[in-house]
Amino acid sequence: MRICVIGTGYVGLVGSSVFADWGNEVIGVDNNPEKIKMIESGVMPIFEPGLRELVAKGISSGNLRFTDSLKAGINDAEIIFICVGTPMGEDGSADLKYIYQVADEIALEMKTPKIISIKSTVPVGTNKKIREYIKNKTSVEFDSVSVPEFLREGSSIEDMNQTDRTVIGSNSPEAIEKVSRLFEHLNSPIVKCDLESAELIKYASNSFLATKISFINEIAQICDLSGADVSKVAQGMGLDSRIGPKFLNASIGYGGSCFPKDVQALYKTSSDLGYHFNILESVIKTNKDQKHYFIEKIKKVYGEGLKGKTVACLGLAFKNDTDDIRESVAIEVVRILRDMGAEIKAFDPEAMPNSKKVLGDSGITYCATKEDAVTNSDFLVILTEWREFKELQDSVLISVKDKNIFDGRNLLDRTKLGNLGINYYCIGKK
Ligand code: UGA
Repeated sequence: MRICVIGTGYVGLVGSSVFADWGNEVIGVDNNPEKIKMIESGVMPIFEPGLRELVAKGISSGNLRFTDSLKAGINDAEIIFICVGTPMGEDGSADLKYIYQVADEIALEMKTPKIISIKSTVPVGTNKKIREYIKNKTSVEFDSVSVPEFLREGSSIEDMNQTDRTVIGSNSPEAIEKVSRLFEHLNSPIVKCDLESAELIKYASNSFLATKISFINEIAQICDLSGADVSKVAQGMGLDSRIGPKFLNASIGYGGSCFPKDVQALYKTSSDLGYHFNILESVIKTNKDQKHYFIEKIKKVYGEGLKGKTVACLGLAFKNDTDDIRESVAIEVVRILRDMGAEIKAFDPEAMPNSKKVLGDSGITYCATKEDAVTNSDFLVILTEWREFKELQDSVLISVKDKNIFDGRNLLDRTKLGNLGINYYCIGKK
């Protein structure tokens, strides 16, 4: 199929390269010519495992091309996927200005009938509004389709190839069938529905997962108070197939460019529709409070000030396997520790260049390795769930001067640390 993908962020760049890998003729569009040149020369604007190789494969097979001209991009396309950002607006709602900009251009440049499909996360009702908006500006026929994206950063290529489901919403059965053909070979369920249901499935899914995390984070507090172990509680809960084991890892809270924004946006959409979404209000509050709960554990040992203390901080990204620091709780915790007077020795396998841009250099040394960060620090704080942090050598761990480790991701082994004479503070485990 001939596909045009507009936007070269996580969804667009991964989407275009995977669609090309599936044998489609794909053209990726971005209005930033520098970004297009970078991508064509093999430099990816984001760190995503396997992406560079997949883009190179697509380009050399001839299935994948890029352009900074939307007109050239949509000319031959049968399906246009809009994959531009929908950041959080000041009032918590999704800011749709990029979607409308693209809609303007499509309306202007579209010469033959198309399927216009929005992959960006947009509030319920948006597809219909965009449809009307474009219809008012062109006489060319088109179908509107909502195909929300469920990929996770860090495993997005795998997620697209092994998706649990594909959701395709439209008021045109023909358009649904045509878009379905793109995904049929995945042999996973395809949910065919109206535009509004497709839009809401995306928000409901992200909000439900965020709810699961806030729920286990509150259970972790009960574990701390009662002496129970949150890992065991999560294991016992997760084995119930109605609950499932995933997204039950207690933490310093969820972050990233999706959950905080999408939960807030669904909450806002609900109140705009006249409904007060009680559960989401609590999910948001619990998540905001969770990092302070973690900081309190540090304060219980060290008091309010950390002047004169050197703190090793492992992890800056909002989660493992990404260089993304948007809404990263790790970054917020580093800021709090620095404000308390600590000297920070930070390490993250991928996110240090991005972190430097927002945290600067004052009070922070960015270390070349995790060992450099930890060795001879006063205490250690773990903030992102990178697997490699589990592999710190005993000799490095025992070099921590105060023998205190605060683990915001429950990664390390308490028994092993106990044997090394280290005090271990984590979330929801004695
Ligand atoms: C999330 C969803 O998982 C994807 O399905 C969705 O497509 C995507 O948002 C999106 O809307 O584009 P992502 O933001 O990449 O994906 O990251 P997740 O793996 O969901 O993690 C989100 C946050 O929750 C991270 O900060 C992570 O550390 C935290 N988390 C996750 C926990 O604290 N505990 C858990 O058990 C799981």
